[in-house]
Amino acid sequence: MNHFQFRDGELFAEDVPLARIAAEVGTPVYVYSRATLERHARVFSEAVAQAGDVEVAFALKANPNLAVVRVLAKMGMGADVVSGGELDRALAAGMTPDKIVFSGVGKTDDEMVHALDTGIGQFNIESEEEGRDLAALAAARGLTAPATLRVNPDVDAGTHAKISTGKAENKFGVAISDAPAIFARLSALPGLNLRGVALHIGSQIFDLAPLEAAFARVGRLVADLRAAGHAITHVDLGGGLGIAYRPDDVPQEPSAYGAMVARVTQGWGVKLMFEPGRMIAGNAGVLLTRVIRVKPGSVHPFVVVDAAMNDLARPALYDAYHHFEPVTATTETMTANLVGPVCESGDTFAMARETGVVAQGDLAVFRTAGAYGATMASTYNSRAMVPEVLVDGDRYAVVADRIPAATIMGAERVPDWL
Ligand code: LLP
Repeated sequence: MNHFQFRDGELFAEDVPLARIAAEVGTPVYVYSRATLERHARVFSEAVAQAGDVEVAFALKANPNLAVVRVLAKMGMGADVVSGGELDRALAAGMTPDKIVFSGVGKTDDEMVHALDTGIGQFNIESEEEGRDLAALAAARGLTAPATLRVNPDVDAGTHAKISTGKAENKFGVAISDAPAIFARLSALPGLNLRGVALHIGSQIFDLAPLEAAFARVGRLVADLRAAGHAITHVDLGGGLGIAYRPDDVPQEPSAYGAMVARVTQGWGVKLMFEPGRMIAGNAGVLLTRVIRVKPGSVHPFVVVDAAMNDLARPALYDAYHHFEPVTATTETMTANLVGPVCESGDTFAMARETGVVAQGDLAVFRTAGAYGATMASTYNSRAMVPEVLVDGDRYAVVADRIPAATIMGAERVPDWL
C-alpha cells in the first residue's frame, strides 16, 4: 500500500499532483510520501513486535535523505549506519546516539573513534581484526564499546548475486563455525562489551525459508555461546525483506515475517534488533521524469526520458525492474524500450516494456524508487545531481536541491602548471 494513486486520471503523491511538482521543481526528481514512510515503519514495527523485545533501526543506506530520516526518527526508529557520513546524517536528522548501530566491513579507525565519541548504541563487528582494533581504540579512551559479532551463516538468500551477503564466499561477518572461538577471544579484551551476534544474509528476499534457516543457525550459536559462559543479550537479525516491484509481485507480508521470527526466536531471551531499509522506503518513492522524445527502433520505439542510469542505477546494476507509468492515465498501450540520455547502452530502464502510451513532453514515473535510488545517484555524463521532494498531505518541500553540473564543475581545479 502506498500513497501514489490516480485521482481523476492524474497521478498524485498524497494530495499533491505530480504534474505540479514537475512544473515547479523540474524533472527528473525523486518524490517521497511521508504517509507511506510512516505506514511502512508502523507496519514493520508492529509485525516484529510479535517477537517480544525488539528494536528497529532503519538501514540508512536505502535512503539517507535528512528529511526522510527525520520522519523515521520521529516515529522512534533507530538507524543502521555503515560510514561516518551516515552516522553524521543519522545524528543531524535527530536520531539519538543510543539508537544507532554501526555495521560495515571496513570501518576505519577514524570512523570508530567518531562513533565511540558519539556514544552510539552498538557496533556490529565484522571480523576478529576489526574487533581488536575497536577494543584498543575504546580502551585507550577509557570506554567500553557495546558490540555484537556479525556471523556469516552460509545460506543462499535466493536473491540477486550482487545483493547476497550471507554465503561463505561473501565478505561479510565471520564464518559461523569460527564464531565461538573468535567470540571467546574478543570478549576477553578490555574495551569491548561483546553482548550478542548479528547477521544479514541479503536484500530483496521473497522467500522466508533462507531467513528462517539462518536464524535457526544463529539460535544454535547463541545456545553454544551461553553454554561457554557468555552473556548474550542482543541478536541483530538484519534487514532484507523483499518488496513488490512488478505489479504481479507477491512479497511476504511483514506480519508473516514477524510470526516466523517470533516462532524461531522463542525462548532466546534477548533483545531482537532489525535493520530494514528497502521495506520502509522502497514504495515510498517514485522517480518522476519527462519524455524528451520518442525515436523509432529496429523492433520497438525508444522512449527517451530525462532520467538516466546516473539518477536510478538499479536497472543497469542489477537488471532491476521498475514499473513505468504515465502520470496521466491512459488505456492505450505501447511496447517500447525505455532509455535515458546517457551515452552507453547500459542506460536502459527496460527493453520491450508494455506501457501506457507516452509522447514527447509527457510525464511518467518509475515506481518503487524510494530505496537505493537517489542515494546511488551520480553525475555521470556531467548531469546534475537529481533533487528530492517530500510530500506531506497537500504540501511538499524540496528536501535535496538539484545540484547543477556547473556547481560540480566549480569544485574542480586545473592546477596552474597546466
Ligand atoms: N543491514 C545490513 C548490514 C545491510 O547490508 C543491508 C543492505 C541492510 C541492513 C538493509 O537491507 P534491506 O532491508 O534494504 O534489504 N543497492 C542494492 C541493495 C544493497 C543492500 C545492501 N545491504 C539494491 O539497490 O538492490
